Formats: sequence, structure tokens, C-alpha cells
Amino acid sequence: MFYEPALRNHGLSHDPLKALVAPRPIGWISSLSAAGVINLAPYSFFNLVSDRPPIVMFSSDGRKDSLANVEETGEFVCNIVTEAFTAAMNTSSAPFPPEINEFEKAGLAVEASRLVKPPRVQGIAAALECKVTDIRPLAGLNGHAGRYTMVLGEVIGVHVDEAILKGGRVDAQHFRLLARLGYMDYAVVERVFELQRPLAG
Ligand SMILES: Cc1cc2nc3c(=O)[nH]c(=O)nc-3n(C[C@H](O)[C@H](O)[C@H](O)COP(=O)(O)O)c2cc1C
Repeated sequence: MFYEPALRNHGLSHDPLKALVAPRPIGWISSLSAAGVINLAPYSFFNLVSDRPPIVMFSSDGRKDSLANVEETGEFVCNIVTEAFTAAMNTSSAPFPPEINEFEKAGLAVEASRLVKPPRVQGIAAALECKVTDIRPLAGLNGHAGRYTMVLGEVIGVHVDEAILKGGRVDAQHFRLLARLGYMDYAVVERVFELQRPLAG
């Protein structure tokens, strides 16, 4: 089959695009408002898009608290969601008003960051301390801004729980990364294999 997303002519009950560009890691974004209110929310339009300098992005469907906070303060932390945090991550995604602290709602404790003000999730295996480098409304071919705004940030500090390392490398069996698929589906990264890059010619 072939379809054009703008025409929604896939003929299926759901547009399969998000199930095709999958799995996506989940950035669990902690941020602070200018007034100091803590916020935590998961974003699967999230990824590392450069490693020199290390740049991450997340994309907000409309104006959400995380976007407002990073606009106000220029800082955020990406807590990397693993299987153990599935339920808490989901709880924190409810549309709570800005004054509500999702850490409390999800039964989570905070751990102070080193280089930015927003705290990270206590016990999380990996967290990236970031400073905003760019905030861009996402326009399509017609040039009109759509609903999404992309936040880009440089990773200035990385926390890694050494329990997920084996022989100096991140070990998938210990990390148990949670990823977003399409629909209401998720996956845990379990089967990993190595592949060397080919030489030219
Ligand atoms: C796994 C998962 C991934 C999500 N990814 C996104 C996303 O990429 N962009 C977005 O705008 N909302 C996403 N959401 C919904 C937000 O987490 C939700 O709207 C949340 O209330 C936003 O919180 P905030 O207003 O505190 O930023 C996702 C929810 C879940 C459960």
C-alpha cells in the first residue's frame, strides 16, 4: 500500500506512521518553571541528534508545561525511561495542571542535578543534564507552523548508574530500555547483536 499522510488516505483505523518509525526512546523531561515549580513528563518525540556537540531534542504537541518551563529557564533533564519505571512514567503523563508536581503524583523522589537546576528522578539508570540551544516551531511544506514545537538542548552532564555497565559498556540486559512503538504499544530492548562497519570496495 501507499498513502499520503496529508491526505490521511491509508484506509486503516490508525495512521501507521508512528508504528513504522519505531522504537523511539522516551525522554522523561524534568524541568522547573521560573517560579520554581517542578515538572516531569514523558516525550517519545525525543532523541539524541548529534554527539559532537551532544544535542538532544524533544517535541511538544501544543503548548505544554515542559515547553513553557524550558522557554522560561533554558534548562531540562532527560531521564531515560527503563522498564522498572514504566508505571511511574505513565502516571506522570496525565494532563496535570502546571502547579502539580508529577514526582509526587508518581511516587518518585528527586535527586539534585550537578550543573542545572531541574532535579532528576531518583534511582533512574541514566539522566542527561541539558541546556536549551534552540526552540523551533515545526512547519510543514506549506510553511505554516503546525502544532509541534521542537526543543533542542546540549547535554552538559550525563549520569549513569554503574550497575548497568558490564566490561565498561552499557549492558542491555541490565539497562532494560523502554521504548515507544505505535498505538499503545511499548517494547523493552532485550536482544542485542554486534555488527562491524564494512570497508569501502
Ligand atoms: C510514552 C509517552 C510519550 C509521549 N510523548 C509525547 C511527545 O513526544 N510529545 C508530546 O507533546 N506529548 C507526549 N506525551 C504526552 C505528554 O507526556 C503529556 O501531554 C504530558 O501531560 C505533558 O506534560 P507537561 O504539560 O507537564 O509537559 C507522551 C506520553 C507518553 C505516555
